[in-house]
Amino acid sequence: MIFKGSKLLICCLLVLAGLPVSAQESNQSQQSHLIPLPVLVQPGLGKFQITSKTSIVLSPEDAAHAGIADFLAQRLRLPTGFAIPVQYRRTKNHDIRFSLNKVPQQNLGTEGYTLQVSPKGILISANQPKGWFYAMQTLSQLLPPHVESSVKINTISWSVPCIKIEDCPRFEWRGLMLDVSRHFFSKDFIKAYIDQMVKYKFNTLHLHLTDDHGWRMEIKGLPELTKVGAWRVPREGFWKDFEKPQAGEANTYGGFYTANDMREIIDYASQRFLTIVPEIDVPAHSMALIASYPNLSCKQLQYTVNPGLAWSAEQENVLCAGNDSVFLSLDKIFTEIALIFPGKYIHIGGDEAVKTFWARCPKCQQRMRDEHLSNTEELQSYFIKRVAKIIESKGKKLIGWDEILEGGLAADATVMSWRGMDGGLQAAKAGHKVIMSPWQNAYLDLYQSDPVMENNMGAVCRLSSCYQFEPVPEGTDPKYILGAQGILWTEHVPNERQAQYMTWPRAMALAEVFWSAKTQRNWNGFINRLEWHLPRLDTANVKYSRGFYDPLITAVKTNTGELKVKLATEIEGLDIYYTFDDTHPDNYYPRYTGQLLTLPKGAHSIRVITYRAGKPMGREINLPLKYLANRVERSAN
Ligand code: ACM
Ligand code: ZN
Repeated sequence: MIFKGSKLLICCLLVLAGLPVSAQESNQSQQSHLIPLPVLVQPGLGKFQITSKTSIVLSPEDAAHAGIADFLAQRLRLPTGFAIPVQYRRTKNHDIRFSLNKVPQQNLGTEGYTLQVSPKGILISANQPKGWFYAMQTLSQLLPPHVESSVKINTISWSVPCIKIEDCPRFEWRGLMLDVSRHFFSKDFIKAYIDQMVKYKFNTLHLHLTDDHGWRMEIKGLPELTKVGAWRVPREGFWKDFEKPQAGEANTYGGFYTANDMREIIDYASQRFLTIVPEIDVPAHSMALIASYPNLSCKQLQYTVNPGLAWSAEQENVLCAGNDSVFLSLDKIFTEIALIFPGKYIHIGGDEAVKTFWARCPKCQQRMRDEHLSNTEELQSYFIKRVAKIIESKGKKLIGWDEILEGGLAADATVMSWRGMDGGLQAAKAGHKVIMSPWQNAYLDLYQSDPVMENNMGAVCRLSSCYQFEPVPEGTDPKYILGAQGILWTEHVPNERQAQYMTWPRAMALAEVFWSAKTQRNWNGFINRLEWHLPRLDTANVKYSRGFYDPLITAVKTNTGELKVKLATEIEGLDIYYTFDDTHPDNYYPRYTGQLLTLPKGAHSIRVITYRAGKPMGREINLPLKYLANRVERSAN
């Protein structure tokens, strides 16, 4: 990884040397709409034409890395219909050539690359094959959106604009988390999710494999986990309003990954330079584990896997901290997890443990006396430190949510900060590595448009909030910030298309935050480029949200107590049309001019829609006026 400072220095030196340089949006070529924005972009004149004669060329000594050249060949073959052979020779003309730097180029680090496109050919060079892989993603983005097609398209000119790019990431950890517990997602879906992630240069997929609602990983020697823990009663409707399991009702909803399934996913990911990080969430969020092995909770009652009920004190989803069987079972689980997952990190959760069960449990109380622990926070810390020893004994490193700070952090633990940035700040101050995932900027399960347009999700994290995310807060030493991650919980994500819809385009905003230099960030520029990517998602059949086109509706309270409506948009260049008369507004309705709107007598809703150049862009939002009182953003005279 190269820190921002060194990138800036390189940019400055190039400017001083009089070379054309562009780390900035304004200098970007008309033809390049790259996400994430590379460090240096130097547009050239002309183009390189991919034709039926184009080959991909490697030096014979780089044959071990031919898999990356094959990826590119496959990506080009489908839409172009050209043969695109991969060859081992030294000629340079009219080819796409991959080369490894004989002398490593320091500023590129392990993931960086240079990509040079001239009318005569394309040259991709990097210190390591990872760099080739990311160059290939950039090259795909320089081609027309039809490159995403899985069928041949005859009508397209496959040209790449001449350009020189030098690029490397800001952060080493560029992740997304997918919760496969609340809803089970198939192996094929995960592979497709990885395909989409790597296009935007993510390198980590954290799988939340266990929770109250399903255990998803086969563990040798603990067969009940997948016989019992992976299944629950089927329910549809609103999560938390679901009906309790009825007597005799069959647990038909769920699924799990066998060890072989997971090895297949890991292999698929590692060919694409992406690490799968497993999470086994303990001591809380453990109802599926407890339903499988009831002796592991404090009360040792027989529970069912939770189908999505509102949390209540009856749901004992916390493992007993006073029972050594818990740690023996966790040893078995983490032994297997460490064998299957080759990455260096294992995530052990550690979040949201309700301590009331421990406070009333004789075994937990005994443990506190034996270990001289003065409160249940210290018992949580004892639990995590004991799990940390298990993890270390398997040669792995522990990551936990920021609650693992409470009662004392285990040595060498890495903190994933989700309740805001503070946990991460504290951990970094104490010399621990941190991954920043504050819910306000990085939780992809939250509303991305007006709450009346989305599933029931509790809070808002719009595209602009993702884009404004700054993982290194003022005063923090960046060397402790390993990186950052977007988080997709799936309580309200009942199917795979919805998982895509919740992820994109917010993950593109995060991708730019995680890869590009902070100084390059420019919201209007990002939206321009994003709009150019939407046809790519369409062509790749990836569902995404157009919520950033939807209008924003808030209220202002006057000093006489009257509520007035304020309309706005998240992006520039949209016109807003509205009505209070319960008909569907179009661009011949009243246009919002920035003046607060007075509610007409008797009106009970406002309908609002955005347009650009005579075309509807956002969805029509129909907001009952009774909700306005909850949207007061300020008082005005
Ligand atoms: C979390 O959202 N409970 C990590
Ligand atoms: Zn207990």
